[in-house]
Amino acid sequence: MSNTAEIKVGGQSYDLPIIEGTEQEKAIDISKLRGQSGVITIDPGFKNTGSTQSSITFLDGEKGILRYRGYSIEQLAEKSSFLEVAYLLVYGQLPTTEEFSRFTDKITRHSLVHEDIKTILEGFPSTSHPMGVLSSLVCAQTAFYPESLDPNRSASEVDLGIIRLIAKMPTFAAWSYKNKIGQPVNYPDNKQNYTSNFMKMMFALPAEEYEADPVVADALDKLLILHADHEQNCSTSTVRIVGSSHASLYASISAGINALWGPLHGGANQAVIEMLENIKTDGGDTKKWMAKAKDKEDPFRLMGFGHRVYKNFDPRAKIIKKAADDVLEKLGVNDPILDIAKGLEEEALRDDYFVERKLYPNVDFYSGIIYRALGIPTDMFTVMFAMGRLPGWIAQWKEMRENKEPIGRPRQVYTGFNERDYVDMSNR
Ligand code: SDX
Repeated sequence: MSNTAEIKVGGQSYDLPIIEGTEQEKAIDISKLRGQSGVITIDPGFKNTGSTQSSITFLDGEKGILRYRGYSIEQLAEKSSFLEVAYLLVYGQLPTTEEFSRFTDKITRHSLVHEDIKTILEGFPSTSHPMGVLSSLVCAQTAFYPESLDPNRSASEVDLGIIRLIAKMPTFAAWSYKNKIGQPVNYPDNKQNYTSNFMKMMFALPAEEYEADPVVADALDKLLILHADHEQNCSTSTVRIVGSSHASLYASISAGINALWGPLHGGANQAVIEMLENIKTDGGDTKKWMAKAKDKEDPFRLMGFGHRVYKNFDPRAKIIKKAADDVLEKLGVNDPILDIAKGLEEEALRDDYFVERKLYPNVDFYSGIIYRALGIPTDMFTVMFAMGRLPGWIAQWKEMRENKEPIGRPRQVYTGFNERDYVDMSNR
């Protein structure tokens, strides 16, 4: 294949360089197209447009491949831990024992949050969605660490800001839950590991001893690994573009949390459970709901199905589906909506509409069933996704900053009125 692409505009030819990545992906570099030809490209939803070159995560949507820094998600889910994966994503290599021990100690020591966070939390009514609370608390970190407003400060100061955020995220998440249900918050327990500490802050009651169930902690840690990064998805692209204006890490991550909240993105895990509950309440007639999903006149979509990149299967969904079976069996939980979910998947895999459009279960289809079995309330599911995705967002923000990428500012094609003169209101 030539390393240039020829584009003809108005009878004039332009040669544009083709770049190739380490997995043989190719892209036409159009950064000089407008200057040479006067025209731009347009691609709503950026379905065919790359925003950056990145060394963090590799996806192959046709083969169902997902790797973080070259390591397959299957191996990391089986052999690693979420904190080790967080280190891998942020710093680019798996840590040595010494590096991991130092990293873990720092995360443990920074898990406590300022007491004034409780005052901020008390301002949120119990009806607040935890995602709105979480994005507020993350952005509020700029108030407690005003030096973090300068993303151009030293690498060690930026790294301290990263450590603080990874460390405090579980505390923010658990405290927002406790505040919502009117229970006193639990302070971090430095004797616990990352995931067990989160569970203790979420579920411990003042009058009782609490010990995290290792089955639950292991399942939760695996889910966090599976959500840790996913190249240039909607929320990661948001983090990058907000950070490209030299806004702080905390402001950029807060924006990413809000982008993830949408039901077409990370909010789908909550929407899937609500959908399955509706189908169960409606008598479990999956054929009726499949028909609704295919009916263009019906706004209903099969939540947890379809993906912009994966067109055969989402490798995370395969791992999570198996984990759902294992966890529910170990916990002795018999959740009828798991059977409804499996029934929907079987029907969709046989249905022309879904097969033709290459719509398969995505990461959100089974994850909520596990969260539910672990005792996590539905409106906290997307918070769990955000906790998992945090190291990926941070790694992507850090890469964008280190590569000194320009401020993101897409162009447009104007379709409004041509020039016209102002008319006095009395004459309109
Ligand atoms: C995540 O990008 C990432 O990497 C995201 C993510 C990550 O880790 O960051 O993987 C996490 O966001 C997973 C996706 C979670 N969302 C859902 O489960 C919501 C339901 N799915 C969709 O809304 C949809 O599939 C998207 C948003 C995921 C993808 O949308 P696209 O790529 O823009 O595809 P599309 O909307 O253009 O759909 C193509 C066709 C359309 O039909 P036609 O116009 O061709 O007739 O497929 C249909 C759509 O109507 N379709 C669906 C469907 N998803 C797509 N029809 C019914 N049910 C669905 N779920």
